[in-house]
Amino acid sequence: MGQGFPKDFLLGVATSAYQIEGSPLADGAGPSNWHVWCQQPGRIFEGHTGEVACDHYRRYREDVALMAQLGVEAYRFSVAWSRVLPEGVGAVNPRGLDFYQRLVDALLKAGIGPMVTLFHWDLPQALAERGGWANPDTAKYFADYSAVVFRALQDRVSLWATINEPWVVMDAGYVHGVHPPGLRDPKLALWVAHHLLLGHSLAVQQGRALGVGQVGLVVNLEPKAAASEADRQAQERAHAYQNQWFLDPLFFGRYPPQAEEAWGPFWEELDASPLSQGKPDFVGINYYTRGVVGHDPGAPPPFVRRLSPPPERSTAMGWEVYPQGLAEAVLWVQERYGALPLYITENGAAFPDPEPQQGRVRDPQRVAYLREHLQVVAGLLAQGVNLKGYFVWSFLDNFEWSFGFSKRFGLVFVDFATQKRTVKDSGWFYRDVLASRGANL
Ligand code: NOJ
Repeated sequence: MGQGFPKDFLLGVATSAYQIEGSPLADGAGPSNWHVWCQQPGRIFEGHTGEVACDHYRRYREDVALMAQLGVEAYRFSVAWSRVLPEGVGAVNPRGLDFYQRLVDALLKAGIGPMVTLFHWDLPQALAERGGWANPDTAKYFADYSAVVFRALQDRVSLWATINEPWVVMDAGYVHGVHPPGLRDPKLALWVAHHLLLGHSLAVQQGRALGVGQVGLVVNLEPKAAASEADRQAQERAHAYQNQWFLDPLFFGRYPPQAEEAWGPFWEELDASPLSQGKPDFVGINYYTRGVVGHDPGAPPPFVRRLSPPPERSTAMGWEVYPQGLAEAVLWVQERYGALPLYITENGAAFPDPEPQQGRVRDPQRVAYLREHLQVVAGLLAQGVNLKGYFVWSFLDNFEWSFGFSKRFGLVFVDFATQKRTVKDSGWFYRDVLASRGANL
């Protein structure tokens, strides 16, 4: 592409607390819902847990040094609520908070800018036992917790994300039952979504009152395509459900109009009008793939099923490699919600990587995936889209939720038996992107 990314465009990497930290109960932390979920037989691939994960809680200094070695400019990580407030509410655990203080200090010393996610799915178990996000009080507790973290870090952090992928919290946890609390209750899921939005909105208002900088929401967007002409309505419903459900209320104070079609009048009970007080300062977009969908009356609302892509265009997650969808998602957000700042807060791919050989991991498919998506990003910037940064998911191979450690997304290979880190070819490729600011694309 030649001219490279603009100077103030951030190129970073992303992780989340439960997926990398390990030591879930160290230094006075309370258990999280994921900690408890992973103990239950049959929940996670081969019984894997986040007990050790990447041992980042103890190795964060060397991990920050490795980021610096790659020239990473920004690091998006999440705070474990249950480290800061072991009971979810009430007494602060200073030793838990201290971990994030030390991490931020180490990042700043290395010249790496932090973006802090306040909730990346690990909820204090004490709150899960009170109903979790199905309980409206959780929204208020989330805002209280956010205020604790804001106060502790606001002198050094100015980029914040409230909730990561609220749609997945709702859909995986309450529609498909594959994340905690493992329910299949689509109507309850709508209340969960509502309370997640309330929590976000209250946290944004806390952030504004404290003057903490930019507070955004991170959503996973997937452009939807219809499997056939007959599936156009299914496509519309899938789009409303995944892409509009968490943005329309914040920007327009109402749920997507197509909702009625799939859920009946029930959704009218959800008063979205106060949610627009939580309009985010930026939208973080996690982009991985698109969804080709068809009508399926046997599926839960919105009555759609996904088609599998051809294997040659598929990642190890079974997700289609479709770089153009990143542009479609970004342009759609800009068109519908206005020209507010946008970040690609996650983009990346799992592939079956080979073990390191002589200190090298060859992952040409991930290199190609990243190159193609970064080219799309460069194209969007050239068109004048208000994109502020891009974060690769993920810095390290890590705990991929119900898939355990069986799916590797990292730029850095982790040998989970020894904790040895080996930079993959894709990590070196990203280093060159960073060094040339994209001129090598
Ligand atoms: C999105 C989630 O935020 C992250 O936790 C997950 O590991 C990646 N997608 C890959 O599935």
